[in-house]
Amino acid sequence: MTAYRDEWRRSLDEPEAFWLEAASAVDWTCAPARALTTREDAWTWFPDGALNMSVNCLDRHVDAGRGGAIALRYHSAMTGTSKDYTYAELRDRVAGFAGALRGLGVTRRDRVLLYLPMTPEAVIAMLACARLGAIHSVVFGGFAATELAVRIADARPSVIVTASGGLEPGRIVEYLPIVQKALEATPGIVSTVVVRDRAAVPGSADEMTGSVDGVAWRDWDRLVAAAEPADPVPVVASDPLYVLYTSGTTGSPKGVVRDTGGYAVALSWAMRNIYDIGPGDTMFTASDVGWVVGHSFIVYGPLLAGATTVLFEGKPVGTPDAGEFWRIVRDYRVKAMFTAPTALRAIRRVDPELDELPDGALDSLRTLFLAGERLDPETWHWANDGLRVPIVDHWWQTETGWPICAIPVGIEALAPKAGSTAVPMPGYDVRIVDGKGRDLTGTGADGSTPEGNIVLRTPLPPGALTGVWGSPERFRDSYLTAFPGHYATGDAGHIDEDGYVFVMGRTDDVINVAGHRLSTGSLEEVLTMHHAVAECAVIGVHDDLKGQRAAGFVTLKAHVEISHDDLERELVALVREHVGPVAAFRDVTVLDRLPKTRSGKILRKTMRQIVDGEPYKIPATIEDPAVLDGLADAVRGAAPAPHSAR
Ligand code: COA
Ligand code: AMP
Repeated sequence: MTAYRDEWRRSLDEPEAFWLEAASAVDWTCAPARALTTREDAWTWFPDGALNMSVNCLDRHVDAGRGGAIALRYHSAMTGTSKDYTYAELRDRVAGFAGALRGLGVTRRDRVLLYLPMTPEAVIAMLACARLGAIHSVVFGGFAATELAVRIADARPSVIVTASGGLEPGRIVEYLPIVQKALEATPGIVSTVVVRDRAAVPGSADEMTGSVDGVAWRDWDRLVAAAEPADPVPVVASDPLYVLYTSGTTGSPKGVVRDTGGYAVALSWAMRNIYDIGPGDTMFTASDVGWVVGHSFIVYGPLLAGATTVLFEGKPVGTPDAGEFWRIVRDYRVKAMFTAPTALRAIRRVDPELDELPDGALDSLRTLFLAGERLDPETWHWANDGLRVPIVDHWWQTETGWPICAIPVGIEALAPKAGSTAVPMPGYDVRIVDGKGRDLTGTGADGSTPEGNIVLRTPLPPGALTGVWGSPERFRDSYLTAFPGHYATGDAGHIDEDGYVFVMGRTDDVINVAGHRLSTGSLEEVLTMHHAVAECAVIGVHDDLKGQRAAGFVTLKAHVEISHDDLERELVALVREHVGPVAAFRDVTVLDRLPKTRSGKILRKTMRQIVDGEPYKIPATIEDPAVLDGLADAVRGAAPAPHSAR
């Protein structure tokens, strides 16, 4: 692994030279003379650089004579439609919508919230914000009004861009009532809602045109028709490009702040060296623009590289079948594909023999990249044997914006190791520490490699978060204070003697359901809203398809009588209403008491071990060990009787 190892070592030993060289892949309006400045536990990449992200993603490719190359291939399995956009067309659409936003008063550093389905308008709106130096905050369509409202209250956008709705299998998700409800909960912040009308969704912008409670509702097409295209606005490299909310340990999501210059440099490096994608290549990332994967590898990464990106609206199965991913790879000659293990498990469940894989469909495919959750060995073997394409399991987070660990296939096709997310990428100095911060990295005297908290030496490389929106304290408290000089990833694992990193799971209350990151704290907050619930604990338990699922355990208030079915139905509805369908919350178990320590801490880890049928130790600090028997009985599933608290 010499080529990789040299590159990585140089990034840590000579960060200035390494990243300034990488920065030459970006077009700057003012080229940075320096790569990094640091002060205490803060750092800035390319402090004297200036650029515009939409120019880097679009204009410069057009100016270089590649305006006719295809930038975006939209394929909707939900409507059966496809449409390609060349770089020139996409640039014009982006400039047009940027002009419309400018007409609404949006300028540099203003926030614009995007609540959009997987249609080209999502990409156009993101790049239009970037063109103006405005900061977008995309909210995933599977979140409900309450989650939307929390993000509006925190990011304080002047404009929301939305669509009449999204399409889920067998169901239309109408966005406008959700937006309206979120606005009612956050009066006085948003001045305009721009609505993209979708023929496939009833309830049009016309219904909403005009002003409602001081908010003007405008139709996308009419706004664009009346606007002049906007020229790009250069911004300093440290200006935020976007804020993307992600779950933390508490109920309120954290707004991860991404800078512009560092991100452009990191993604440019990653496209070439990790994904091996450049002009003329096609990348298919089967995620959603509401997640970081969508930001980095549906939108910004492939377009920075001058490549073709596929925007897919649909599911891995059932839209219409388990062959849809493979047909996209075949028809679009995809070179790199990226999805979550859950999607493969979904395909395997309905098509274990890969009967839906057309002959030769994967001829163009060089690598299948997986991330978002732990890749279980069974799925790895099934995909490896059946698809016969190199598989790269790589690890990253909303916070880091690009992979912490991967196989950089553009540099060197290192051999994968089962269960490992491979080796650290440039700028990532990955260490293992114990709870007290003692460095355990390396091999023990007995040849073992100790497991512990995975941390990253600061400063983090370009592209990683530069803060938590509106709260430097929260940034420090969430990530930097637990292990001084390091960023706490929240993941646990170990590093083997070859430097391969094994990510085993979270150390906090974050769970991962179908590659979607959820906070058990926020689900608990919702369960306690129910009039019958006295106490509750939500834990992530094993799920064959989704990796994990949220299971709720509740105790009831005295003298409350409610049937299990009613309670479950009401709690499920409550979570859907407040968090959204994406939580996929379905399991409710009623207990007499929750297992706790004598100091009142709920024993979530022990609960999870019992539910998953794993061996467990009774913690010495437990208040009453008999409570665990109650949990074990409940999990074994005695038929639920009507519940009343004793
Ligand atoms: N808008 C509105 N609702 C949405 C939504 C969106 N964008 N995305 C999902 N939902 C809804 C679903 O319709 C479903 O609702 P339901 O309870 O009424 O059926 C619910 O949220 C749960 O969705 P999901 O977890 O996606 O489950 P599913 O059963 O619909 O699909 C998979 C299962 C495996 C096909 C799906 O989870 C999947 O494609 N996973 C891959 C995940 C991924 O790409 N993650 C990105 C990280 S890289
Ligand atoms: P998100 O911020 O939603 O991308 O989720 C990030 C979290 O997902 C990480 O902290 C890990 O817990 C988990 N994760 C992502 N990729 C992997 C992977 N390849 N293997 C194991 N866990 C992963």
